[in-house]
Amino acid sequence: MKKFPKNFIWGASSSAFQIEGGWDEGGKSMTVADFNSFKHSHEQADSKVASDFYHHYKEDIALMAELGMKLYRFSIAWSRIIPSGDGEVNEEGVAFYNDVIDELLKKDIIPFITLYHFDLPYPLVEKYNGWEARECAYAFEKYARVCFERFGDRVKFWQVHNEQNLMIRVDERMNIDIEDKHKADQVRAQMDYHMFLAHALATNACHEMIQDGKIGPAVSSTMTYPTTNKPKDVWAAKMNDRFKTDYCLYMHYYGEYPGYYKKYLKECDIEPHTKPEDEALLKSAKMDFIAINYYRTLSASYLPADDQHPKGTRYKDIDFDQYGYFRIDKNENLVATEYGAQIDPMGLRLVLNHYYDDYHLPLIITENGMGTPDILTEDGKIHDEYRIAYLKDHIGAIYDAIEDGVEVIGYSPWSFMDLLSSHQGFKKRYGLVYVDRDDFNIKECKRIKKDSFYWYQKVIQNHGLD
Ligand code: BG6
Repeated sequence: MKKFPKNFIWGASSSAFQIEGGWDEGGKSMTVADFNSFKHSHEQADSKVASDFYHHYKEDIALMAELGMKLYRFSIAWSRIIPSGDGEVNEEGVAFYNDVIDELLKKDIIPFITLYHFDLPYPLVEKYNGWEARECAYAFEKYARVCFERFGDRVKFWQVHNEQNLMIRVDERMNIDIEDKHKADQVRAQMDYHMFLAHALATNACHEMIQDGKIGPAVSSTMTYPTTNKPKDVWAAKMNDRFKTDYCLYMHYYGEYPGYYKKYLKECDIEPHTKPEDEALLKSAKMDFIAINYYRTLSASYLPADDQHPKGTRYKDIDFDQYGYFRIDKNENLVATEYGAQIDPMGLRLVLNHYYDDYHLPLIITENGMGTPDILTEDGKIHDEYRIAYLKDHIGAIYDAIEDGVEVIGYSPWSFMDLLSSHQGFKKRYGLVYVDRDDFNIKECKRIKKDSFYWYQKVIQNHGLD
């Protein structure tokens, strides 16, 4: 029996544009996530209806209670609260989230809110290309303050940006559409910096406005193994972790970029514009925890420089073109999901140990799960034993990390219910609850409990694994 510490919290997660639907209802404006998803409407489901949480939320929260969840990690759509991005507050949007929060609290479920999960209000893109402008950080602060003021009496746990470190590398998510690589990287670095400012502003506002408020970032964690034990492969693996995730946590914690990142920005001539007062702001914002999203591990090997890549070559997965040292390899020791994510519970134990060693802050897992097609049987069941195995092994790894001395305060897998996957619509499913729709036939979006739902319900009841 693997019993978890008394205060350990079991939850499940989602994000606004991936579940809500009602994309233009209740005064909401279009977001960057909507804009991108509409571009692919002919290929897969889009965010117009998604899982239709907007109209099913009472039923969904009743299911959360039946599951036994103690925490629900979800995001607020900025575009419902302030449709223009930086102007008037939309009371209908506030009322919607007030209802969701109250419904959760009635069922003794802690609302754990992400302020921004890939869905920047599109009007801010039209106005000044979103995060490229410093104003965007102040618009975000304003939005965060509205949320803290309206919901902070009941909501004590907040996440700022979901996976800034990953989002920044995905052009679509950032609305970067620039052919010139140097220029694109310059804009990216500037956007990243403004997001750090926004993070600091929101963190300080939370502490100022909410009594007992706790706030932190959610990072897309990376664990990269060297493909061989050659020292340069070890270095390559380290560089991959640093450039993908570690620099971001370092900046959140110390309020400045680590040396290797400063060097990269300088050598590539993409240092962002800053103001003298930023330093004090960035250093003053103290995160209370680190939220970790974990799906897989990677493997990397060193590649020497060549004529075209004077500082080393790289694999397409890494965007630091001019600075790359490495290639991402297949790890022959691991099995991957149908969609290529290498399944590796031990990697989660390593990640938890690594971040705790570095920062000694409480950790919570806010995403972890298996994305795969599910089969709805004729008698209306989903026998997802593969997902049960995945979750069981990862929960086991968390247990081991806790035994190692790491302070892990909760587990909130991805996802509570099936939702719009970033690249595969409703073909790829993560949920504990099946949503009966497919990419082009929305049907009634009926909710069906999967076998993993009943399994996780027992885990919560037993407060651990058998
Ligand atoms: C995380 C995101 O990076 O990965 C989620 O925070 C996303 O929004 C999840 O759904 C899984 O990725 P995908 O592409 O399978 O949906």
